[in-house]
This record gives sequence, structure tokens and C-alpha cells, in this order.
Amino acid sequence: MNSIKLSQLSFLHKLILSFFLFVTSYAYLFAQIHFQFNTRSADGNESGLASIKDIVITYHGDRSKTRLGAKINGSMQQYLPNEASQLAIEAWIAAGRTEQGYRKIQHIFDDNCVRCHPYDERPDYPLETYEEVYAAAEPDRGVSIGYLAYLSYFHASRMGIAAVLLALIFSFSSFPTKIRIVVCALPVVAMLISINSWWFTKLLSPIFAPTVYFGEGLTGLAYGIIILSSLYDMWLKKKKVKISKRGL
Ligand code: HEC
Repeated sequence: MNSIKLSQLSFLHKLILSFFLFVTSYAYLFAQIHFQFNTRSADGNESGLASIKDIVITYHGDRSKTRLGAKINGSMQQYLPNEASQLAIEAWIAAGRTEQGYRKIQHIFDDNCVRCHPYDERPDYPLETYEEVYAAAEPDRGVSIGYLAYLSYFHASRMGIAAVLLALIFSFSSFPTKIRIVVCALPVVAMLISINSWWFTKLLSPIFAPTVYFGEGLTGLAYGIIILSSLYDMWLKKKKVKISKRGL
């Protein structure tokens, strides 16, 4: 292959490509900060880095938790007449939210909650009928499919373009062809691992949560290799004035 090499580019072209490499690492840095800050408090603990548990709760949800269960232990607890009524609601949720069971605790909602949660006033969160209370106690299933699809679209379009441009720049480096082929594929593979592990964690099982981190790490590794070695190749590598063995 006799294509042009990075080290042979004009100063201006080297500068433009270096800007792109710099901007890409800048974007990656902030993407990681965004990921950490939006994920690490999912389990209620904000300190440290995002744990595997945080990732599971974000994508798969904490299926033992419900909004109703959380609220009667939180800001709505004050409206319950006693602890027995709270335990009765929790037992009903744990026993599978049957209609029969609801009839026995319905008076708790009627007497204490419906005045502020009638359908007319709070169509987003009514507590008047079995169906409404049943829906209020739906297990937490993590991020919604619609939002995850949006995130995936956003991630794939941005990161996809970055991955292809990085690969293109690296393809003009002077490393052996086999190495260039493998390294060029890395950012795309890493991106696919990241996005697919979000979906696998959400839809299939929490066992895929560690692969979310693996995808982020592999992306960082791929970016690091490509950015540093391309910059090296472009600016520092000595230009070899080669005289072809086959003659000019
Ligand atoms: C004095 C009015 C009032 C009473 C009584 C009341 N709530 Fe609420 N409830 C609110 C308001 C206001 C909100 C929204 C603010 C919040 O989430 O704290 C809310 C929110 C909620 C939510 C979360 C809704 C969401 O969109 O996330 C649940 C669940 C809930 N209430 C359950 C109950 C239950 C169960 C009772 C009865 C024990 C009850 N509430 C009694 C006013 C009330």
C-alpha cells in the first residue's frame, strides 16, 4: 500500500487532525463524567464511582421496589394512620397485588389518600380503583424502552462517527497493516458492546451489567491507542526517505 502517511501531511492538515483527536478525547472525558454522575446514585448512595449495582438498578430496575412502596416509606408516610396500614400495603404488594387482597386494604386508600389522589386532580397518579393502585405498585423496571432507544440512537450516531473518523486517521499511520486493521475495528466493537449491554441488562438479565463497564473501558482503551499513536506517528516519527528496492 502506497497511500499517503500521517507524517507526510502538511502542517495545516496535521493540525486539523490533531484538533479532532483532542476534541474526541475531551468528549470521551465528559461522557464518562456524565455516565458516573447519572448512574452512581441509583442505589441511593452517591459516593464513589458507579457500582455494578447502580448499573443494574439504572437499566434493569430494582424489581423489589415500587413507587407506592417507596412513597409510603417516604413523603406519603405521614398520611397513613398507623404502621399496621403501611405493613398491610407492603404485604399486599409482596403477595402479588391481587384484587381480592386489595378489597381488604382499599379503605386505607379511600380514607387517607384519595382526597389528594383523585383521578380528576391527579390523572398521572390516581389511587381510586384497584387498577390504579395496582399500576402505582408496578415494580421498578429501570430506564424506559423509549428513553433507552433515544440514548442508543444518540450514542450510536455520535460515537459511530467518532469511531469511523478515528479509524480513518489511524489507517494512514505507518503501523503494520494487520495491527491497523485490528485497531481500526476496536472503537466500533467497543461501542456495540456498550449499547448492546444496556439492552441486555434491561431486557435479559443483570448479569450483563459488568459488560457495560467493559464496553466503556474498551472504548477508552481504543481511543487512547488511536489518539496517542496517531499523534506520535504524525508529529514525532522521523520521516524515512525510502528508496524503493524496485527502483523509482
Ligand atoms: C395532602 C395531600 C396528599 C395526601 C393525603 C396523599 N398524597 Fe400522595 N402525593 C401528594 C403530592 C403533592 C405528591 C407529589 C409530591 C411527592 O411526590 O411527594 C404525591 C405523590 C405521591 C406518590 C408518587 C407519585 C409520583 O408521581 O411519583 C405516591 C405513590 C403517593 N403520593 C401515594 C400516596 C398514598 C399511598 C397516600 C395515602 C397514604 C397519599 N399519597 C396521600 C399529595 C398527597
